[in-house]
Amino acid sequence: MDAFVIEGGRRLEGRLRVNGAKNAALPLMAAALLTDQPLTLRDIPPLADIRNMVALLGELGCSHEAPEDGVLRLQARDESRSHARYDIVRTMRAGICVLGPLLARRGEARVSLPGGCAIGDRPIDLHLRGLVALGATVFLKGGDIIAKAPRRRLKGGRVFLGGAFGSTVLGTANVMSAAALADGQTIIESAACEPEIVDLATMLNAMGANIRGAGSPRIIVEGVRDLRGIDHTVIPDRIEAGTLMCAAAITNGSLLLENCPLDALMAVSDRLEAAGVQMKALDRHGNPSSDPIPADVDPMRVTVRVASERVLRPVEITTQPHPGFPTDLQAQLMALLTLAEGNSVITEKIFPERFLHVAELSRMGARLFRQGPTVIISGVRRLVGAPVMASDLRASASLVLAGLAAEGTTIVNRVYHLDRGYHKMEDRLASVGASVKRVDDKELAPQLVAAE
Ligand code: EPZ
Repeated sequence: MDAFVIEGGRRLEGRLRVNGAKNAALPLMAAALLTDQPLTLRDIPPLADIRNMVALLGELGCSHEAPEDGVLRLQARDESRSHARYDIVRTMRAGICVLGPLLARRGEARVSLPGGCAIGDRPIDLHLRGLVALGATVFLKGGDIIAKAPRRRLKGGRVFLGGAFGSTVLGTANVMSAAALADGQTIIESAACEPEIVDLATMLNAMGANIRGAGSPRIIVEGVRDLRGIDHTVIPDRIEAGTLMCAAAITNGSLLLENCPLDALMAVSDRLEAAGVQMKALDRHGNPSSDPIPADVDPMRVTVRVASERVLRPVEITTQPHPGFPTDLQAQLMALLTLAEGNSVITEKIFPERFLHVAELSRMGARLFRQGPTVIISGVRRLVGAPVMASDLRASASLVLAGLAAEGTTIVNRVYHLDRGYHKMEDRLASVGASVKRVDDKELAPQLVAAE
C-alpha cells in the first residue's frame, strides 16, 4: 500500500489551481440517468470515487468517454437496468445518489444500502422519507433498498428534510433530482444549502428542469416531462481549497490559490482570519483588492493569496451545515490549531464521532482533550514527525498538514484514503516547496508501517 514520507518544516510558496469538486461531481454524474441525451461534465477530478461512479453508471446502462483531461461524457443508452449492486456501492457511499434519478426516470430502483463508514453512522432515512413523499413505495430486501413509483412516475409533494444533525446534502440532491421529473410541484423544506446543491440545480435547470430556491432551505421544483443533455463545468472544490489554505498557514508559507470558491468559504476564511492567517483576494487585473471578494471576478473562482508569518491565535470552531463551518475541514483546522498559542475549541455537530485524527495527531505531540463531540486543542510549540494512519479521507489530510509542519519525518500510511479526495496531493505540495514522497510501504522499515 502507498504511504507518504514527509520531511517537515519547509515553508510552502507558489501558485496552485483548485480542482473541480468531487462532492459536486458525484450527484451531477448521477443526473446522467435523468435523460437519454449526452451529458458533458468539465473539470472532473480524476479520483477513485469518480471512477467508481463511472463504473456504477456503466452497470446502469450509461456509456462514458473521456475525450480530454477533466472532461467526462456520459449517456444513458440502456434504460432497462436499475440495480446498483453492493460491491460497487460499498466502495463509495455517494452511490446512493443514483436512487432518486433512477426512480424518477425508470420508475424503479434497487440500490444496495451503503452502510456506515469510518466517520460514523451514515443513515439514509431522510432520503427515503423524501422519496416516499413523492409517492414512491420503498422497502428493504436482502440489504437493498427497493423503490417503485406508482405507474412509473413520481408525483410532486411536500418534503421536510431536516434531521437531528441538520439537513442532508445527498438526500437533498436525490429528492431534488427525482422531483425534477415528477408530476406537479414539489416543495423541499429544510433543504441542504451547500454549494454542491446549487451546482446541481444550475445544471438541472440548464437541462430543462424548473427549480427555484437552491442554496436556501426551501427549494421549489415544478416537474417537467423530459430533460435534455448539457455541457456543464463543475464548481471548484471548497474542501480542497480550504485544505490548501491550511497548508499555507501551517508552514508559515504563502500560496496563491487560483479558481478558489471563496464565496462558498466565508465561514472558513472567517476562522482563518480570526486565527491570524492573511487572506487577500486579487481583482481582475491581478491587484490585491480591498474587498474580501472583488466585485469584478466570479466569486466562486477567485485568485487569493493565503499567507501566515506568525504564531496563530487560538479560535473556537463549531461545524454546521452550510453556510456554517464545514465538517469536511474540521480535521484540517484541528491540525493547524495544534500550533496556535493557547487553547482552541472544536465542536463537531454534523458527524459527532468524526475524530479519527485526534489520536494520530497526539502521537505527533499535539495536546488534544476530547469530550464527546468537543475537542480542546492546547497549542504546542512544535509537532514531531511520527508514523501515523487514519482510515478517513479528511483525517488523512490533517495528518499530511501536521507532517508538513512537524520536525523530522512523518510517514502517513494508507494514503488511498487521501487519494479518494485529493488528486496527486504529493506532487501538488512538492510543486510549492514541500518534501513529500509517495512510496510503497514495502520500502519502509516494518515499524513504520501501520498494522492491520
Ligand atoms: C455529504 O455526505 C458529503 N459527501 C460528505 O463529504 C460531507 O461530510 C457531508 O455531506 C456533510 O457536509 C458527498 O457529498 C459525497 P449528509 P452526505 O446526508 O450527504 C445525518 C467527504 O469527506 N443524516 O448531509 O452523505 C448524517 O448522519 C465526505 O468528502 C441523517 O440523519 O451527508 C449527518 O449527521 C464525507 N439521515 C448529517 O445528517 C439521512 O438520511 C449530514 O449528512 C442522511 C443524513
